[in-house]
Formats: sequence, structure tokens, C-alpha cells
Amino acid sequence: MNRVPLLPANFRFGMATSAHQIEGAARSDGKGISIWNTFEAESGRIRHGENADVAIDHFHRVAEDVGHIADCGVQDYRFSLSWPRIVPAGTGRVEPRGLDFYDSLVDALLASGVRPVPTLYHWDLPQALEDRGGWMSRDTALAFADYSAVVAARLGDRVGQWITLNEMNVHTLYGYALADHAPGRGLGMAALPSAHHQLLGHGLAVQALRAAGATSVGVASQHFPVVAASDDYADQVAAETFSALTNWTFSDPLLLGRYPSDEILSLMPGTESAIAADLEVISAPLDFYGVNFYEPTRIEAPKAGKDYAGTLEVDIPEGLPFSPVAYETDWRTDFGWAVVPDALRDILLRLTERYPDLPPVIITENGASFHDAEPDSEGRVHDADRVRFLEAHLDAVVSAIDAGVDVQGYYVWSAFDNFEWAAGYDERFGLVYVDRETLERTRKDSWYWYQSVIAGQGLPA
Ligand code: BGC
Repeated sequence: MNRVPLLPANFRFGMATSAHQIEGAARSDGKGISIWNTFEAESGRIRHGENADVAIDHFHRVAEDVGHIADCGVQDYRFSLSWPRIVPAGTGRVEPRGLDFYDSLVDALLASGVRPVPTLYHWDLPQALEDRGGWMSRDTALAFADYSAVVAARLGDRVGQWITLNEMNVHTLYGYALADHAPGRGLGMAALPSAHHQLLGHGLAVQALRAAGATSVGVASQHFPVVAASDDYADQVAAETFSALTNWTFSDPLLLGRYPSDEILSLMPGTESAIAADLEVISAPLDFYGVNFYEPTRIEAPKAGKDYAGTLEVDIPEGLPFSPVAYETDWRTDFGWAVVPDALRDILLRLTERYPDLPPVIITENGASFHDAEPDSEGRVHDADRVRFLEAHLDAVVSAIDAGVDVQGYYVWSAFDNFEWAAGYDERFGLVYVDRETLERTRKDSWYWYQSVIAGQGLPA
């Protein structure tokens, strides 16, 4: 096995999950319905028609699960809070059983020496809010601020580090522009107001968290390094346009207080002066910037008559000024995603160049789905592919640090095999294997590998 070079002594290793993907107990303990519960009930939305009503039943197995997290030695655990579990209708009545659940999770983590890092929103909007426009409505941003204040008042005495929203770009793109994720709106370019309202929700939540004494507030953004398919001018422009829409539309408002172009600004809701006032709120300084990274995207200018169907996991509608094409590499995950560890270093360098005031970075998600075999007769899950993937990406983080990027942590997606959104349960991202029938947990070889990396701050035993 290769060695992962030593990381700084204050570097924080973690694992990440999200509420909807692991908790289950979808319709009990007072929890409200989320847009994902609705989406999953619609025919054809989820591969094999599965749902997350039980997921991996984390809600009832917290004690065991905290053990799998803490025993690995991670300093941080990133999880998300389910808004409909806490405020079932999105606004108004607070459900005490929801708050109690997260309260005891936080206590269990702290008692085990793990720092809790909650994310306030990981895509599971209360359905009642979607019925009133969801993130296409400005009121959802205001409701999000109220919910953030409720949570901070309850957990803020023990939680210092917070993440506001997860991957606003993916939620906008897959949920509102396309129809591959909940709420499945398929609005195309008309979806952009949902980006602005999430960004505003983020800014208002930062205010609410700071008012409640939070010491460290950040956001988790997925970044796609975008490469042009060729040096042709048309391909270069297409790649820039795609990157502006999927990367900079989200990070420029946060880190520069503006949208990347007048065209994009013109698609946002409200007058220019109202948007400018919102951008003041949105760009409040952050304590850290979370980067989720999975794979780069290769883009070309659409070629007449060429069929692009099936090149990406989701099909981009025709008529747009860019077309994703397959990234050329032999190294892929079992999900079909290109494995390009250097692209992680490249995007970190790109962020550092683009944002002179970039706060310290935490890699808030990175990981891979491989279709692991079930535990063998000795109860071992041999997932050498995942180890190779993680090792190469940690190497990329080290080289980014060497090149001057201030990366202070790395969280593996994910602690457990879980409900992978529209792909259901086939895709396994976990360090801990979960049997689909019995829900029994088994630590994979990658879990043991990660434990040794953490114990040596980067040097496997
Ligand atoms: C999301 C996770 C998801 C992972 C793998 C990220 O986009 O934040 O919820 O499971 O990617 O697809």
C-alpha cells in the first residue's frame, strides 16, 4: 500500500452523512413529510422504486452508529438535521421529539470525543413549504432563518461548528432545473430563483447562528472542475458557461458578493437593488468553506446531430449552449464516475486564485461508490478500490496544501452505506457496510485503513 504523506497535526479527519439518507423513521415521532418522501412515492423516480422510509434505521440505532464513527478515531462527524423532523410544516410548531433526537446525538458524539458538525439543510425540504413554492419562493429563505434559530437555541450550547446548506448547486440543478431529484420540477433556466433563495437562506441562517453564539460557520458546496473538450474557442466558451452556472453562480455570491455575469444576474428574482441588498447578507464572512468533490466534468459546444443521451448520469435538455461529454479515463467508480484525484487539487487551486479572501477549506465530502461484496466468512468486506480512491484523494489534498491552499480537514462520504437518492440502495459509499435485509453493520477494510491513517495523521500503519 502506498503511504499517504503526513498531514498537519491540527488537520481534522471526519465522516459525513445526511438525515434523509440514513435516519428512516420517515413518518413517525412527529416528523413531517419532506419533498423526498413525496418524490419517492411517485412512480419511476427512484431506481427499483425504493424509498428511504427505513433507510438504514439510524434513528433507532444511534448508539451503535456513534460507536462505528468514534472507534475509527475521527475528530469530526458531519450529519444533517431534518427540517421536517424539527418543524414538521416548515414554519410554526416545533416538534420536541425531533429536537430531542439531535440533542442526544450531539451528547453521544461529545461523550465519545467526536465534534458534532451539523448541516442545517441537506435537501429534505418540508413538503408543506414546497406546496407554497419551495425554494422558488423567497418565503422559504425566511422560514429557513426561523428554523435555524430554533435549532441554534437548542444545540448552540454544545455545537460550535455549523454548516448551513449542502450543495445548493446540485439541489438547484437536479431538483429544480432538471427533474432527477426532489422536488422534480424540471424548470430549466427558469430554476435560477431557487439558487438565489437558497443563498439568501444561507445568509440569514449565518446571522441566526452567530446571534446564538456559533463560533464557526460555513457552507458545503459541490465544486465541479470543468474542462473543455478541446482548445476550440466554441468548446472553451461552452465550458466557461457551464462552470459559471454550476460553480460560480453559487460561490461568487458567497465569497465576492456578486453574480458571475449580468446574464445570470438578470435571471434572479427581484429588482437589481433588492438583489444587491440580499448579496450583502449572502456574502457575510465565513469561518470555513466546505468543498464537496466527486468528479470533473468535460464540456463541449453542442454539435449538430450528435446524440448526447446517456453521457452523464442525468440528461441535460437540448438547446443549452453546452453539452457534457464523457471524461476520458479508465479509472471509474462502480457508479460510473470518473476518478481524477488531480482534479481535486486543481479545483482547490482555482478557488484560491479566484477568491483572495477564501476562508480555510474543509473537504466536507469526498468518497466513492463501489458495489462491495457482502461480508466474507470472516466478516470482512474487502474494498481495496475504495481505499485506493481515498488514498489518491488524500494525496491530492496534501499536494494542494503544499501548493499553498489552506485545507484544514477532510470528511469521507460516507460513514455508512445509505440511500443514494434517485439511485436507491445499489450505490454503496460507506466505510461501514450495511446489509439491506438485516441492516447489520460491518466495518469495511476502508474503515480500518482510515483508522490507521487518522492514528498516524496520514501514515497508514
Ligand atoms: C451529496 C450526497 C450524495 C453524494 C454522492 C453529494 O452530492 O451531498 O448526499 O450522497 O454526493 O452522490
